Amino acid sequence: MGASQELEKSATNYALEAVRLDKQGSRGMAITMYQKAIEILLKLVQLYPEYKLNKVYIQRAIAYQERIKALQGSVPARPQIEANGVESAKTAESEKASYEELIVKEKPNVRWGEVVGLEQAKKAIKEAIVYPVQRPDLFPLGWPRGILLFGPPGCGKTLIAAAVATEIDAAFISVDAASIMSKWLGEAEQNVARLFGSARKSAVEGRPAIVFIDELDSLMGRHSSEVGGEVRMRNQFLKETDGVIDKGKRLHVYIIGATNKPWDLDWPFIRRFQKRILVPLPDHHARLLMLKLYTSNLQLAPDVDLHELARLSEGFSGSDIKDTCQSAHLSVIGEFFESGQAADKLAKPRMLKMDDFRHILGERKPSVSLDMLASYNRWFEAFKAL
Ligand SMILES: Nc1ncnc2c1ncn2[C@@H]1O[C@H](COP(=O)(O)OP(=O)(O)OP(=O)(O)O)[C@@H](O)[C@H]1O
Ligand SMILES: [Mg+2]
Repeated sequence: MGASQELEKSATNYALEAVRLDKQGSRGMAITMYQKAIEILLKLVQLYPEYKLNKVYIQRAIAYQERIKALQGSVPARPQIEANGVESAKTAESEKASYEELIVKEKPNVRWGEVVGLEQAKKAIKEAIVYPVQRPDLFPLGWPRGILLFGPPGCGKTLIAAAVATEIDAAFISVDAASIMSKWLGEAEQNVARLFGSARKSAVEGRPAIVFIDELDSLMGRHSSEVGGEVRMRNQFLKETDGVIDKGKRLHVYIIGATNKPWDLDWPFIRRFQKRILVPLPDHHARLLMLKLYTSNLQLAPDVDLHELARLSEGFSGSDIKDTCQSAHLSVIGEFFESGQAADKLAKPRMLKMDDFRHILGERKPSVSLDMLASYNRWFEAFKAL
């Protein structure tokens, strides 16, 4: 198989995975997978500019990008409750099937190297998960099992969880609130039990397991409405985490929670995550590294000054920076197709200029406000545990 076909195949795989995750409501993971697909499609176009399917690739990339935007803008779906407060009857079969769907079997293929900065978070995760998995004999006092990643949207919480799963050969069980709430109501507590049961089973069989709970606040937050089985589900969750922390001393089961609203969590939940780590907005240096990372496959004109762009993108999240690079690139490619030059198989799109970036930056505002930032820092000061 040629290199281009291989790339196309992996783009398709990521896209399929993204759509599957999207359907089940795992927004965070779906976004990550859509992004992977976009990356590869753009790489294809870059490497084989004369390829006849490029137009299709670009259209797909744009469609995925739009889907990501929609997902980022949407709030987790609330459960559909019938008038009498009971969810419509479902067969045990379909409940079981929906539970199976929640488990991400394919490991998200994200490497540590793709996670820029966040040294504190990486260090904590290595100490709490990676090293104990490699040499449990060196940890006679045990080690933490619960890690809470919190911070502004788009700064790498989901990304870092995906990277851990790649790093150690672990069963990666990814659930997020939207999917649990909409599908598990009524059965929720059994399903939480089942979820942890399969994590333990994997660990007993010698394979570490990571239970990753994205958007923890909407699942376990004190503001989530207490209807149906929600209270019981939360209690079940607390019980299961205790099991992992106290009784499962020798078992490699880990819980990673991610949230951008840590203040919605109450103490029983906070307490069970022995490590609580702020995943902050990137500083100048991290933004520069991200700009380098996300333009590494692009043809840049000599006037593009990444240091200056890092300065101009103050306040941007990693996700904002990535979108900026992608949008700048897509605009140049779009221009290329619209001008009709693409018909000439030997023609190539022009290089990206500083103005292309400036233009996009001018149209975007940082997605995190100063107020929000101050809140994260306050919460961190009150509850941090490194
Ligand atoms: N530190 C980073 N290094 C590299 N890329 C990053 C980083 N932070 C964010 N990104 C880019 O932004 C995308 C979104 O990041 P991610 O989904 O991990 O954010 P998040 O913190 O989980 O946000 P949310 O709170 O909205 O779920 C990533 O897939 C990646 O492309
Ligand atoms: Mg996320």
